Amino acid sequence: MKDLMNQVLKNSGMSDSSSKPEPKECASCGEQIEPIQVEHPFHKEIRWVYPACKCEIKKLEDIKRQQESYRRQRKINHALKMSSSLEDIKHLTFESYKLRHGNEKAIREVEDAVENFSERSKLGVFIFGETGNGKSHITAAGGNALIEKGYSVLFITEKDLLSRFNATKNYNNNESFQEIMGVCLSADLLVWDDFMSSQRLSDEEKDWIFQIINGRERKNKPIWATSNLTPEEFESDEVVYKLDNKGRTWWRLVGNMNCVYNKASNYRKSIAISRVLGISVEEYERRQARE
Ligand SMILES: Nc1ncnc2c1ncn2[C@@H]1O[C@H](COP(=O)(O)OP(=O)(O)O)[C@@H](O)[C@H]1O
Ligand SMILES: [Mg+2]
Ligand SMILES: [Zn+2]
Repeated sequence: MKDLMNQVLKNSGMSDSSSKPEPKECASCGEQIEPIQVEHPFHKEIRWVYPACKCEIKKLEDIKRQQESYRRQRKINHALKMSSSLEDIKHLTFESYKLRHGNEKAIREVEDAVENFSERSKLGVFIFGETGNGKSHITAAGGNALIEKGYSVLFITEKDLLSRFNATKNYNNNESFQEIMGVCLSADLLVWDDFMSSQRLSDEEKDWIFQIINGRERKNKPIWATSNLTPEEFESDEVVYKLDNKGRTWWRLVGNMNCVYNKASNYRKSIAISRVLGISVEEYERRQARE
């Protein structure tokens, strides 16, 4: 019986001697693991055991966090039935995003926002500039990186967002207003693609936008917005007073964001012209930069 117990203790990594055994190496990371003393489960006796290595504990925590985030992301996808649009942006990654003349700052800002996501709290990102110059791509890349890290992300265009809200007014629609507003406020990150792209906003739409901006600010959650506004429009009355006649909502939102003007040119245009010229995009853009 005693032998059997010693065998069990040995197998469980427990030592039966009272002197401290040598540290052992972690099989995964090679770190030294110092034995610690614990009370024997049955006798009044102190034993030496090897605790789980920090790397193993971290692995378990990562898995737990990932599972939790998958669960939340599924909830978001389900609520907005937007798994198809998430499919559309899945391939938009940092790896597939090229450094181009003028987009350096936008890349740096989004990378920082990903790296320091929790430290930045409600500090968001506002990327504006010419159409086709990679604003949606870079913010989607950042969003995808955060999903990888275990955060829940809602990526949605303003048009899609407002039409979903408007559709909840049809009595036979099964998405409720609260469901959609709920995910807008609960997602760790909201990427608002083509912010302020609507021609005209109804009072109701202004109110929804205000609720989202206000609600996320209260919860210290960031918004990343992309927009085709020019630097002049960015400060123009038309834009500033679009959400309310005092410009409060606008400055409140912008005040919570690092604003970056993406000066890069329209990438789609570069692709089209380089094809006509029968040269690579890179070659075309090198020639443009020399001019
Ligand atoms: N720096 C880049 N590297 C690779 N592809 C790019 C880059 N910038 C833009 N694109 C591609 O060009 C197209 C337009 O970019 P997009 O992000 O939709 O522009 P925007 O949102 O600014 O209008 C997309 O297919 C995108 O993947
Ligand atoms: Mg876009
Ligand atoms: Zn280890």
